[in-house]
Amino acid sequence: MASQAVSQLALSLTDAYQAALPKSKALYGQAQKIFPSGVTHDGRYMTPFPIYVKRAKGSRKWDEDDREYVDYWVGHGALILGHGHPVVLKAVQEQLEKGTHYGACHALEVEWGAQIIKMVPSAERVRFTSSGTEATLMAIRLSRAFSNKTRVVKFEGHFHGWHDNVAIGVNPPYEVPISPGLLDDVIGSVILCPPNDTKALEKILKEHHQDIACVIIEPTGGSYGMIPTDPAFLPELRRLTAQYGVILIFDEVITGFRVAPGGAQEFYKVKPDLTTMAKIVAGGLPGGAVAGRKDIMEYLEFKKDDPHWNRHKKMYHPGTYNANPLSASAGLTTLRILESGEDIQKANAIAKALRDGMNEVIRKLGVDWYVYGDFSDFHFLIGIDPAQASDPNFKVYNLDYHLLKGKANPDLIYKLRQGMILNGVDIMREGGMTSSAHTEEDVEITVKAFEATLRALQEEGSI
Ligand SMILES: Cc1ncc(COP(=O)(O)O)c(C=O)c1O
Repeated sequence: MASQAVSQLALSLTDAYQAALPKSKALYGQAQKIFPSGVTHDGRYMTPFPIYVKRAKGSRKWDEDDREYVDYWVGHGALILGHGHPVVLKAVQEQLEKGTHYGACHALEVEWGAQIIKMVPSAERVRFTSSGTEATLMAIRLSRAFSNKTRVVKFEGHFHGWHDNVAIGVNPPYEVPISPGLLDDVIGSVILCPPNDTKALEKILKEHHQDIACVIIEPTGGSYGMIPTDPAFLPELRRLTAQYGVILIFDEVITGFRVAPGGAQEFYKVKPDLTTMAKIVAGGLPGGAVAGRKDIMEYLEFKKDDPHWNRHKKMYHPGTYNANPLSASAGLTTLRILESGEDIQKANAIAKALRDGMNEVIRKLGVDWYVYGDFSDFHFLIGIDPAQASDPNFKVYNLDYHLLKGKANPDLIYKLRQGMILNGVDIMREGGMTSSAHTEEDVEITVKAFEATLRALQEEGSI
């Protein structure tokens, strides 16, 4: 691996970054003339420009300047087995030979769906989608069809994709929608609830349950655990939604098959009515799914007695890439590997070693940061008294959640990323995820990169 140390950083981090990645810089110059802000996903935007990756394998990826990185994006969380797992690769290559799209039902989709039902405790029926955004859109619409009610309860700081129904309460200030161009009626139908607040939830359900179709939650917490869920909250959420006759949706787009083979619902032993999945479910290829109670999923069935071409009793659901054979081959193979839980444990253990290592650096350098996470994830909490964080009874979910998301200065996060990239590590903004392909050597490289970056940030007065 190229040692890309920034120790001799006479230059600022940003200048050093620009000098070290000429090919990425040039590509970004071209991309800015093609894509808005030069990127194809808002989350990939960074200043002064993002890296351009040409190859990935296991826990590593390589950019156009041939620099090597330990990767903590892992395909936006989709690749819990790492890049190019040989068994998954073989399955996809074999499928590629047989055809990429039949425009027809196929045996692999049946196996794939059956595997989900086998692994996910609440899954009685499944429908595939092309993405996580489509999955949450579908679960919410199904809830409305089933309940004949309209409103949605979502938790502040939780992310469920980018369609209108969930485009509020994502980043602070939570009452301001995340985008222009949304329908006021749709946005207005969403009721925001503070995370982990049983009393607030009970009040909302008590007052509005006749209008509420569903409550949707990322079960381990907003933005894959950045605002962690108090485990005691989930049974209360289940109890209250059942009591008030409101559908409970677990958005397991990230936690599905990452937290446990059956997702967060298996880990916490709380069964939702509907579950949304994407990312790992399709093994790193595009895909998603909704699964859940048979009686709710029946709203996707054709009804012989519907005089209006199934418009009244059936939820309409086409989708060119639903259950695409390539995604099916990657997804089914990945899920089968994950069934034993071994890879999940491995990814969790690596993430814990990373968090411990980075927290040690934080203590050593006397920085007011803390690295937290519960599974194969890590998140940076910037601006916390280290004495508070080292209390053995300290629980991140007991902090005011307003401190946990959207507080970090974006320029500082970009500099943190620049420093880590210069030292051979690609983190996702204020955190990242691990895979079973990550190794102790990766942890060592990352902790060293973190120390070098924090020192550089201190030297230039950024922290
Ligand atoms: C919890 C959660 N739900 C939904 C989505 C949207 O999924 P997609 O990006 O596949 O549309 C994401 C994406 O990161 C997510 O993390």
